[in-house]
Amino acid sequence: MTGTDEGCVRIAAVGDVHLDADVVGRYRPALEHLGGKADLLLLAGDLTRHGTPEEAACVAREFGGLAVPVVAILGNHDYHSDRPEEVTAVLRDAGLTVLECTGTVLECNGIRVGVAGTKGFGGGFAGACASEFGEPEMKAFTRHGRELAARFGEALAALECDVRISLTHYSPVPETLLGEPVEIYPFLGSYHLAQAIDGAPGVGLAVHGHAHAGSERGTTPGGVPVRNVAHPVIRQAYNVYQLTVSSVLTPA
Ligand SMILES: [Fe+2]
Ligand SMILES: [Fe+2]
Repeated sequence: MTGTDEGCVRIAAVGDVHLDADVVGRYRPALEHLGGKADLLLLAGDLTRHGTPEEAACVAREFGGLAVPVVAILGNHDYHSDRPEEVTAVLRDAGLTVLECTGTVLECNGIRVGVAGTKGFGGGFAGACASEFGEPEMKAFTRHGRELAARFGEALAALECDVRISLTHYSPVPETLLGEPVEIYPFLGSYHLAQAIDGAPGVGLAVHGHAHAGSERGTTPGGVPVRNVAHPVIRQAYNVYQLTVSSVLTPA
């Protein structure tokens, strides 16, 4: 127990912290008080600037050893040096759970909190999306996003839990991109992710990052609350979202 009311779970989340040797330490003072404010912390990708193991060590210092479990995904920046496996290993050595088209279930206040995560990918949204047509490069771009979302959706639906949470880097909806140039929406998210979220039973919250100039709040077509927690959007070390079990329980 962490002191919250029975039936509630408090989800802290932030993305796009973009840590390196110059930034490490910025978030830690606020994180030291996390245990009294949240039951777990979600990191929505772009944890580093260029995806090096050295920068991952900065992430490990910043987010390791906290009072609550930390569940993370990687973002596109964390792939930039083509070393995502090494970055992931450094984070796991620090005790973080790192997801990619996988899920985990944590016990918080007697509630089974399931989180499935993926970096996800772009491709765009209804009426302005890429299609698997033409050049092989275009087909590969589009297929990558669709396949990641499909695998993510399977992981999300398979969670055996009381509260089901989606954690992605790219956005599942256009609403939380408001503020970004419309021309780059296809590089910021994909409707395939929203389909995956809406295809799983009883998702209570969908958290993402990546859109630094976007907006915090949106909703999937199926009614799941979406929150863009990119640090430049929320402008603090983390936001906390409280979910009550009765509102998110999977229907029998
Ligand atoms: Fe970012
Ligand atoms: Fe990003």
